[in-house]
Amino acid sequence: MLIAGNWKMFKGPRETREFVRAFAKPDGVDAVVCPPYVSLAAALEGPVPVYAQNVHWDAEGAFTGEVSARMLLELGVAGAIVGHSERRQHFGETDETVARRTAAALDAGLAVIACVGELEAEREEGRTEDVLRRQVSMLDRHERLVIAYEPVWAIGTGKTATPEQAQEAHALIKSLVDVPVLYGGSVKPENAQELLSQPDVDGALVGGASLDPESFATLCRIGASLS
Ligand code: PGA
Repeated sequence: MLIAGNWKMFKGPRETREFVRAFAKPDGVDAVVCPPYVSLAAALEGPVPVYAQNVHWDAEGAFTGEVSARMLLELGVAGAIVGHSERRQHFGETDETVARRTAAALDAGLAVIACVGELEAEREEGRTEDVLRRQVSMLDRHERLVIAYEPVWAIGTGKTATPEQAQEAHALIKSLVDVPVLYGGSVKPENAQELLSQPDVDGALVGGASLDPESFATLCRIGASLS
């Protein structure tokens, strides 16, 4: 069971140090935090493994604003999120760039949480399965690859997929590529138990509820109790 905290563009180094000092990870669960780049070093002062929120496919080069897997590994970062829907929606990330970033990061030695998920309109039009098949077809099985199923309509909205909707999507994803699949989208202490107890839900990628050390620890405890 893996509980990953995606901090998005929250917490500079000072708040990051406060978090890692206050957060006590329960036994029996894997937890990682994914702070903004400027806070990676501060997060690494704590005991919890640290992932970045993105990673470029080249080792170095003229790519303003990007960071490579080699640079992250040098710092002590263990993995990266790739293809989050906010990157797809606001920063032009495509299935192709997600695939390139994922493959290069895995080759370099990072773990990757690759994000997939349908838009609300796609679900309403009955296209969820097609979208997931297309997105997942770009990803190859790897021992350090984890997929996060994040229905875009459930991210930061307070709307969660029902446990049945999550289970159905996770089962489909696992039938396409046999890797652990995290659920993401408004996961919080109140709904984590029923989502995480689905047979094909192997953990959670948590945004808002990962920002507070107490609530993140509660989610980790729920994960541990189901492992
Ligand atoms: P949320 O974000 O938990 O705030 O909905 C999840 C994510 O974007 O990974």
